[in-house]
Amino acid sequence: MQTDWEKRYADEDTPWDKGEPAPGLVDWMKKQTLEPGTRVLVPGCGRGHDANAWALAGFETTGLDLSNLAVTEAQELYQSQSGLAFFPGDFLDDSPEQPFDLVFEHTLFCAIDPERRNEYAKALDRWLQPGGHFLAIHFFIPKEQDGPPFGTDLEEVTSLFSSFMNLIEQWTPRNFPNREKEEQMFLWEKPIS
Ligand SMILES: C[S@@+](CC[C@H](N)C(=O)[O-])C[C@H]1O[C@@H](n2cnc3c(N)ncnc32)[C@H](O)[C@@H]1O
Repeated sequence: MQTDWEKRYADEDTPWDKGEPAPGLVDWMKKQTLEPGTRVLVPGCGRGHDANAWALAGFETTGLDLSNLAVTEAQELYQSQSGLAFFPGDFLDDSPEQPFDLVFEHTLFCAIDPERRNEYAKALDRWLQPGGHFLAIHFFIPKEQDGPPFGTDLEEVTSLFSSFMNLIEQWTPRNFPNREKEEQMFLWEKPIS
């Protein structure tokens, strides 16, 4: 059954939204060495807290979300932030006018029906430039659990993404309370050819 994301936002039934960027992203941002002009996509951006963190760090950032309401709320919340734009759209079905230098994943992969994960990988390949990076926070929770969030494990993540990207690094990030021991962070690079 598809989740009705628009209704979740209309009902303010959004327990994933902590009102601030993911701690793992905040920590990574402090030590990143990306080129200043890096164009970043945050798919499934929700109310835009992670996307805003990227823009605050000086990167030209686009947030994309299936829910019109989430996009409207993100636009209102972060209207004064330069270098930041939010658009409604479907990460799985849409294609970018120009692929991005970096895609940041946080709580989208685990929100999508596991049967569509191959589509997620194909979409990521479309949205990411050759030479670009995929920075991801994944939830390693049991797969049997009714979702969202839908669980995953190292084997699945590695087999999905290593077919078109090289793994640079994997680590356990600082988490939001109640997500301890569940999150793993990955940095992948898509080869130039
Ligand atoms: C669990 S929420 C996480 C939102 C945000 N990343 C956060 O941490 O607050 C999943 C988000 O993905 C969005 N979403 C689900 N499927 C999507 C798709 N195919 N394309 C773009 N966004 C999608 C939902 O509307 C929702 O905002």
